[in-house]
Amino acid sequence: MQLTQQSRLTRKIFDKFSVTQIRKHGEYEWQDPKSEDEVVNITYVLKDGIRQQVRGKIGDNILYLAHRYKIPLEGACEASLACSTCHVYVDPKYLDKLAEPKEEEEDMLDLAPFLKNNSRLGCQIILKKELEKMEITLPQATRNFYIDGHVPEPH
Ligand code: FES
Repeated sequence: MQLTQQSRLTRKIFDKFSVTQIRKHGEYEWQDPKSEDEVVNITYVLKDGIRQQVRGKIGDNILYLAHRYKIPLEGACEASLACSTCHVYVDPKYLDKLAEPKEEEEDMLDLAPFLKNNSRLGCQIILKKELEKMEITLPQATRNFYIDGHVPEPH
């Protein structure tokens, strides 16, 4: 019994680490798609309304893909679910196509300013084919953003 509980805990920790470690520094997102079958085109809508189309691929993390293309989505905790600086709005048509948010994601979203029904944490969104043409809109501000217009460099 105790061993089972320990195994579950170990697995939970491993699952969290395996996802975050693999995706942590965004190396994968810097790789171009190997074939057209992998391509997932999405659009980031910036705070000033500018729409930036990005050619992503299956498995890309929305946060690190944004970093590759210099889209100002901060990601202060590097996808560890310990901040809300990767807060984004997901095109409502695509919300049902995303994995349900984990409890930790919902807890962090509760701290995000300008929360909406379609709010998600960008670092928890992984591209798949069904997300083709999805729009991701950046909120007016996140908790760690400066209010004087300075945009911090992604980590
Ligand atoms: S980068 Fe901190 S929760 Fe997404």
